[in-house]
Amino acid sequence: MKNIKAIIFDAYGTLFDVNSAAEKCKYKIGDKWEGFANFWRTTQLEYTWLRSLMKRHKDFWQVTEDSLDKSMKTFKIDPSMKDELLNLYKVLSTFKEVPETLKTLKEKNFKLAILSNGTPSLLNELVKSNNLEDLFDDLFSIEEVGIYKPDSKVYDLPIKKYKIEKNEVAFLSANTWDVSGGGNYGYNAIWVNRNKNIFDNLDYKTKSEIKNLSELISII
Ligand code: 2OP
Repeated sequence: MKNIKAIIFDAYGTLFDVNSAAEKCKYKIGDKWEGFANFWRTTQLEYTWLRSLMKRHKDFWQVTEDSLDKSMKTFKIDPSMKDELLNLYKVLSTFKEVPETLKTLKEKNFKLAILSNGTPSLLNELVKSNNLEDLFDDLFSIEEVGIYKPDSKVYDLPIKKYKIEKNEVAFLSANTWDVSGGGNYGYNAIWVNRNKNIFDNLDYKTKSEIKNLSELISII
């Protein structure tokens, strides 16, 4: 990929570990913490897709709260843990290779940005709590267009801001449906496959598959 001008990252699941909130409470939740965390994430994403299809938008924080509520009831988790889980979700940890990789890419003068379902305030807090604020040129939120990924209006945002071509973007996501969304839109979409998952059949074959973000440096 030689003509890349901007490297755009999905946030939740790609840069930030969405399970790290529940993991920090695993001693109170018990062995079911990982099943609960995965159910919460799946429900959260289902709600984004369904709200977009129904044209009944609620922002990502409200959707995260609503999906947490259902997940806690489903897994019979003490309701008094709700605020703790939500507060932890605001300051999710990055995957370990993220800060160093972003610093290396920044030195190569690429435009670096996040493109996420998260609200502007959630993205600001995630980036600040991980001391990454100096590394990004922009934090693009779907709130600017009022519809969730993988709607094409979301993927338009960096193209319009940077006045570049779709094929001048390298788009990184761990979420296979998001890789397909960005790839079908026209990005060079790269799949960050940390857990040997299977890709989707959504008309797009990913340009590259990497195990973690540090491998990106050798292919850009
Ligand atoms: C994000 O938009 C897909 O939730 C993920 O950051």
